[in-house]
Amino acid sequence: MKALQYIEQSAEALEAAGLFFGHGTDNAWDEACWLLETVLRRHGEPAPEAETELDLDSPSMREVAELLELRVTTRKPLAYLLQEAWFCGLPFYVDERVLVPRSPIAELIDNGFEPFLQTAPQRILDLCAGGGCIGIACALAFPEAEVVLGDLSPEALEVAKINIAKFKLQERVSCVESDLFAHIPGTYDLIVSNPPYVAQSEYEELPEEFLREPRLGLVSEDEGLDIPLRILREAAAHLNPDGILVLETGATWPALDAACPELPFLWVDFEHGGEGVCILRRDQLLAWNP
Ligand SMILES: C[S@@+](CC[C@H](N)C(=O)[O-])C[C@H]1O[C@@H](n2cnc3c(N)ncnc32)[C@H](O)[C@@H]1O
Repeated sequence: MKALQYIEQSAEALEAAGLFFGHGTDNAWDEACWLLETVLRRHGEPAPEAETELDLDSPSMREVAELLELRVTTRKPLAYLLQEAWFCGLPFYVDERVLVPRSPIAELIDNGFEPFLQTAPQRILDLCAGGGCIGIACALAFPEAEVVLGDLSPEALEVAKINIAKFKLQERVSCVESDLFAHIPGTYDLIVSNPPYVAQSEYEELPEEFLREPRLGLVSEDEGLDIPLRILREAAAHLNPDGILVLETGATWPALDAACPELPFLWVDFEHGGEGVCILRRDQLLAWNP
């Protein structure tokens, strides 16, 4: 069967199963391509062209078919089945100990946080780092920077350590187990955070794929506001004088904006989709909460 036809059939099967797409792709077609390309690559086979003839009895194509079946029957995000997710064009190791990377902050990293950062940051904190995708992508974007990855979950930090080793960043990137800032050492030019911000009521309505992810990574008390508000209150003490906080709050952003009317949030407009990421300078945070 030709690759194009195989992808069409796979995408139809994924679509017909009523799956949710939002963990690495946003549609069945891209997911079918991602699956096929990844498995063939792992078998040392070239990425297929539309006209490539696929041997459905080969070990690689049998594996593709098995994974397709698992995606439908388990509703696990494909990233967990492949143990790989792409972020900022980089392939991260992932498993069920961490959320599947999908933060719109990737676009800011790709743009070097311009125009929000005046100079390249020397010290970066990724707070609520999970598997480390944001902090590690920052470390690669700013080759002089030291990066700390903080997370409450030791299991998530085990995954972060796998990624630190994968990208050979042991000299510049370290992990700290910490409830937000509690055990985070030093001060930073850039604090970037994609924390939990989903309200419990909203969590209960999410498609099954999200329930495969660690709840600790998604849910925040107080209608999603608890953790973002704690970060806003505590960040200034951990920022250098010209430092900035980049905080993702997703669909919770209007509630956060309304809860802090005195805080001059700058909500980022993304070219490639996503919402609810704000940028605040240390002096703005201090003026709000001295
Ligand atoms: C939305 S996930 C983000 C993971 C990663 N930064 C990303 O963008 O894919 C949030 C992370 O926050 C961590 N977390 C939850 N509560 C925390 C807390 N009180 N202090 C530190 N980390 C926490 C979770 O373990 C999870 O890894």
